[in-house]
Amino acid sequence: MSNRVTIDVERVIAPIDRNLFGGFAEHLGRCIYGGIFEPDSPHADERGLRGDVVAAVRRLRMPVIRYPGGNFVSGYRWRDGVGPVDERPARMELAWHDLEPNRFGTNEFVGFCRALDSEPYLAVNAGDGDMREARDWLEYCNGTQNSALVELRRQHGFEAPHRVKYWGIGNEVDGPWQIGFKTAEEYARVYTEYAKVMKWTDPSIALLASAVSLWEPSWVERVQLLMEHATPLIDYLAIHWYVGNDAERGYRDDDFASYMAMSERIEDMLSATEGIIRAMSSALRLERDIPIAVDEWNVWYRVHEEGKLEEIYNLEDALVIAMHFNAFIRHARSVKMANLAQLVNVIAPILTRPDGMVLQTIFHPFELYSRTCGDVALDVHWTGDTFSTPEFSALRLLDASATLDAQARKLVVYLVNRSADRSSETTIELHRARFAGPVAVSLINGPDTKATNTFEAPDTVSLRRAALDASALDASSRALHLTLEPHSVTALVCDLV
Ligand code: AHR
Repeated sequence: MSNRVTIDVERVIAPIDRNLFGGFAEHLGRCIYGGIFEPDSPHADERGLRGDVVAAVRRLRMPVIRYPGGNFVSGYRWRDGVGPVDERPARMELAWHDLEPNRFGTNEFVGFCRALDSEPYLAVNAGDGDMREARDWLEYCNGTQNSALVELRRQHGFEAPHRVKYWGIGNEVDGPWQIGFKTAEEYARVYTEYAKVMKWTDPSIALLASAVSLWEPSWVERVQLLMEHATPLIDYLAIHWYVGNDAERGYRDDDFASYMAMSERIEDMLSATEGIIRAMSSALRLERDIPIAVDEWNVWYRVHEEGKLEEIYNLEDALVIAMHFNAFIRHARSVKMANLAQLVNVIAPILTRPDGMVLQTIFHPFELYSRTCGDVALDVHWTGDTFSTPEFSALRLLDASATLDAQARKLVVYLVNRSADRSSETTIELHRARFAGPVAVSLINGPDTKATNTFEAPDTVSLRRAALDASALDASSRALHLTLEPHSVTALVCDLV
């Protein structure tokens, strides 16, 4: 059998928000210290930022980066991290049981983001913090009047406001592991009061509510209560999503086919979240959409050691990352932000040592999608070969999505071949458009599904580029034929007429 992917370029799902390619950096393990910030490194610039890391992150074109946590934020005092570095206190850190030196804080983070052309997204402490502290932080960052907090920022060397647009209230407040865990009712109240004073402090900000991280049956009620109480103050509903090739975060332990069936879980989670938001919006007669921000997501299942979390990724993880981007594109109507957790060293696409760094397998799909994605998502129909797992039968072997840059008439088709050993004969058929000429092919693959990138062999899983010439097209220029390698991600960048 073979596979047929049919694309009608006028069947647009929705505009794609670039914030799908967001990141996240937490004070955890070696993400900040020894990752982003290492003043003693030969790679450090005058601010202590590692130049090699900045250059690698720049390749990912992240429009937004969340900070400073994560679980860390639920015990964080922002004032500890501003002002003269030598006067900043070191604090016991209870989320990851570490000592926080506070040598990197708000102003350093904003500087890091500006070096990357990214927007900072700050999460405030709704754990052991309070709303006064949250609104003070916002005033310190964004204030323009001659208040004491704005004066303080100026004394710290920042005359102009930082204009931080995105602010999250709390982190994983639904998790008993969180400092200051909250019941649904407690968080709905806390969110409302924090949000009220924060919007009064700066009405231009966008607020993210920490809706779901624990996918237990009570999540539905949490979202319902939150929306009942706080909808006028919610700009995004934030959810967290971690998956793995094990029975806890996937379907089975180390089973490739089951891992590739992860698409079903993603679809289910996104559709269910859309459903509850829609039900509540209808009940509340809401006249605007409340978008979803998946503001932490990644593969994470191997390393749980406190304070480290240095997961080593392989090729199958990279396929799963690509499948997530396909799902975000297919759900472009509702998903308006997503932040890969995290950026460097800690469950991250970039792994550093004092003398260098390696780009992990998951770096490549992130870079590929971020650099090629168009501005609208297209509704793709595909049929063909299937595979089965103990949980599912007849899942499509390919996982697909497509985007269009309407002005440039550029179509991008993303295909994940989920077979461990079969090539896939595939036809891409266009409706209401024709291929204008050669098609650029970007391909991520490696020798086997467990292949990793190491300091010794950094390019075992990497991206290759090729071109399909006219012989791949049929006479009408409406169909393209190609063979997809087993366990691969392919992006086809096509000019259209
Ligand atoms: O990203 C690692 C941790 O995962 C974050 O601190 C927390 O929010 C989540 O549980």
